[in-house]
Amino acid sequence: MGDKVKRIGVLTSGGDAPGMNAAIRSVVRKAVFEGLEVFGILRGYEGMMNGELIEMDSRSVSNILGRGGTMLKTARSKEFMTGEGQARAAQVLKENAIDELIIIGGNGSFKGAIDFYNNFGVKSIGIPGTIDNDLGHTDYTVGAHTSVDTVLGAVDKIRDTVTSMERIYVIEVMGREEPYIAVMAGLAGGAEEILYPGSKVDLDQMAGEIQKAEKRGKRSWLIILSEGYSSAFEMAKKIRERTGYSVRGVTLGHVQRGGSPNAPDRVLASIMGARAVDAVIEGEHGKMVAIQGRNLILVPYEKACFERDKDQQLHAGLYSLTKLLAT
Ligand code: F6P
Repeated sequence: MGDKVKRIGVLTSGGDAPGMNAAIRSVVRKAVFEGLEVFGILRGYEGMMNGELIEMDSRSVSNILGRGGTMLKTARSKEFMTGEGQARAAQVLKENAIDELIIIGGNGSFKGAIDFYNNFGVKSIGIPGTIDNDLGHTDYTVGAHTSVDTVLGAVDKIRDTVTSMERIYVIEVMGREEPYIAVMAGLAGGAEEILYPGSKVDLDQMAGEIQKAEKRGKRSWLIILSEGYSSAFEMAKKIRERTGYSVRGVTLGHVQRGGSPNAPDRVLASIMGARAVDAVIEGEHGKMVAIQGRNLILVPYEKACFERDKDQQLHAGLYSLTKLLAT
């Protein structure tokens, strides 16, 4: 057991993700149940530097479980990356007697938390909240499941026009360098091709494949493109040049971050929120709650942020199956 924690601060940081609200609800209600005081910090690290704190109780988080976005707001703060910004934030926490933070965010947020501890001794526990599913040592991050559902809804709709107009569509999805959204939506949506960082697709070969398929009567293609690989319009142009076919590029954009979290994300957020509070009570810090199989574990921030290329085999396997099923 570490020093007894009396008051915690909870914040969301970086890009919002569906299920962040469910995580906030879980943190607040579990903390109150455990006899802790909870302050919500608005606008992530940005609000922390500016002293934007609100006292929270169980009623503060009524009716947010199914809402997208984050009731605490969020931001990407450049200033917090400076020593001056962190000094201001540390001073605000000291003035408000906050003993430890629970940070709901992605790798940028946890890298910030590592610095904050090293420079000012501020302790924290992280909950992975990002649609990208790009943190190491956790099977899932809060928001990824919902985002894949959102992409799939769009893919199904676009498939209608792809088939009707016998065209090629390139649909660009988010995820930065992480192919998770692309490969999951690709398999679930019956894509003919998935292009993602690390994939070995040769464009000339793909163009040849499209032309050969047409001879077999396959006259429409749906290609899922990860934003970390290229842009939809650039890729559409390249394919058009190689095949002479009618090709459209679609960028799904920020719709992938919005909407009501689905059941897996609500469940994940709820169990991770409660586990984060337990971790604080146990005296833990500098770690992220992670899920591996059915187990919730704590992973040091360094591993979560810097050991991220965990799923290459999974991606390759899902990719091969997608291709086999799309013949
Ligand atoms: O990290 C979440 C994410 O949605 C990425 O998939 C995407 O590349 C990025 O954020 C977009 O960031 P912003 O909303 O700041 O443009």
